[in-house]
Amino acid sequence: MTAPRPAAVIVLAAGEGTRMKSATPKVLHAIGGRTLVGHAIAAARGVDPEHLAVVVRHGRDLVAAHIAVFDPDAVIADQDEVKGTGRATECALDALPAGLEGSVLVTYGDVPLLEAETLRGLLEAHVASGSAVTVITATLPDPSGYGRILRAADGSVAGIIEQKDATDAQREITEINSGLYAFDALVLRKALTQVGTDNVQGEKYLTDVLGIARSQGLRVSAHLIQDLWQTEGVNDRVQLSRLGAELNRRIVERWMRAGVTVVDPATTWIGVDVTLGRDVTIHPQTQIHGASTIGDDVVLGPDTTLTDVAIGNGAAVIRTHGFLAVIGAGATVGPFSYLRPGTELGAKGKIGTFVETKNAQIGAGSKVPHLTYVGDATIGEHSNIGASSVFVNYDGVNKMHTTIGSHCRTGSDNMFVAPVTVGDGAYTGAGTVVRKDVPPGALSINVAPQRNLLGWVHDKRAGTASARAAAAAAAAAAAAASEDSPIVPEDSPVAPEGSPSA
Ligand code: UD1
Ligand code: CA
Repeated sequence: MTAPRPAAVIVLAAGEGTRMKSATPKVLHAIGGRTLVGHAIAAARGVDPEHLAVVVRHGRDLVAAHIAVFDPDAVIADQDEVKGTGRATECALDALPAGLEGSVLVTYGDVPLLEAETLRGLLEAHVASGSAVTVITATLPDPSGYGRILRAADGSVAGIIEQKDATDAQREITEINSGLYAFDALVLRKALTQVGTDNVQGEKYLTDVLGIARSQGLRVSAHLIQDLWQTEGVNDRVQLSRLGAELNRRIVERWMRAGVTVVDPATTWIGVDVTLGRDVTIHPQTQIHGASTIGDDVVLGPDTTLTDVAIGNGAAVIRTHGFLAVIGAGATVGPFSYLRPGTELGAKGKIGTFVETKNAQIGAGSKVPHLTYVGDATIGEHSNIGASSVFVNYDGVNKMHTTIGSHCRTGSDNMFVAPVTVGDGAYTGAGTVVRKDVPPGALSINVAPQRNLLGWVHDKRAGTASARAAAAAAAAAAAAASEDSPIVPEDSPVAPEGSPSA
């Protein structure tokens, strides 16, 4: 059966998170490239609620600003100075339209592995059983710290007792409250007005709603789940990395099941917003972050980190660091390439070894194979940039643009001093400093004729290893010259005494 749309999901995120020991509010820490509260909102959106509210207090402005970007339709509800999960929920209800009816789900902003599928299961069980409250529970080998589920003699849920308020006998209970619930909206609102703060922590507990509903003769149910990861919250950075690793394990496994080869899942990191095509192969130590989109048959890695990079079908990217770049179909990048924002490599193009690119549009089939910086440039199609060239884009104050046409062949060790244009089909010689535009089809050369100052090392660097090497080379050349010198004419029938046989 499918349950009706829930009236609301309320995400509690007002808690302090002191154990993170961070200037950043806890729920703004991220795993898988998404904040903790972002994960909570994404799961909540998965059940398509009519309203979604996030309760904030600690780090309020930062958290609210983040949510406004992540999910502009989410309602920000401010919790007042009254503490506790019950009060937080009440503040959310106050921020939502009055007279809400149907189901209200409550989740936590610091439980990032919860899946929409699990919330759907909770909602369906809640509606099917006609319960006023259904709580997700789990059985833990070590339940310490959690609220415990109290069961009546007939096995039904009688209430929840917090660890701090529990008797020794109650602390033996291993079934815990996950903090994830489905409520009937009207029951929830009314019961919260009856919840007090008479407990060890002096807080208004949401958990008290279960006992109140039960005492009214309403049905309270437990929805036991096996996947404990989905109920685990982040309290410190050890848990943050533990849950981050598990999230990644799940993401990588999902992509493998969807047709991606991952050679080493343990060293492969894929963010939640990444998409991968079929028959992608990912070699070890590869990280794909942000909204990267990878086409079919792409080979990535080893040792590659890509953030917000789009790659066309059949490209190969090896030992590369890339950020906000586009790589065309069938192109090759790396090893040891650095692609900075605004890099756009056309189909079957090449960015090779020790090449750095920034704001550079490199056309289809064009190649920048070796040891080169291409910054603020447009290169046409099927051009080749010689090894060890620099697009000199910066005069110390302004950044300027270089344009290279199509089918150009620029020599090795060129400097393109921007702004400058090289026309279609033009060539440049090795070592050219291109300061003036090169017309289409021209060969540009401006290197001064080479002068060799003979004996300079002997004169100016006497006694050095270089001078000794030069002297030895001169002596060897002199000896070779005397041996080769024709003492008799070459057509002489008789070789002189002592002349070499070969
Ligand atoms: C709560 C439950 C406990 C359960 C546990 C599961 C209550 C009284 N107890 O305990 O039964 O086993 O979660 O993790 O509900 N929050 C607010 N405002 C507040 C207090 C908390 O928004 O005033 C938010 C926190 O940001 C957090 C969530 O509620 O996301 C849980 O708060 P936390 O302090 O961790 O609750 P526990 O005491 O651990
Ligand atoms: Ca907690």
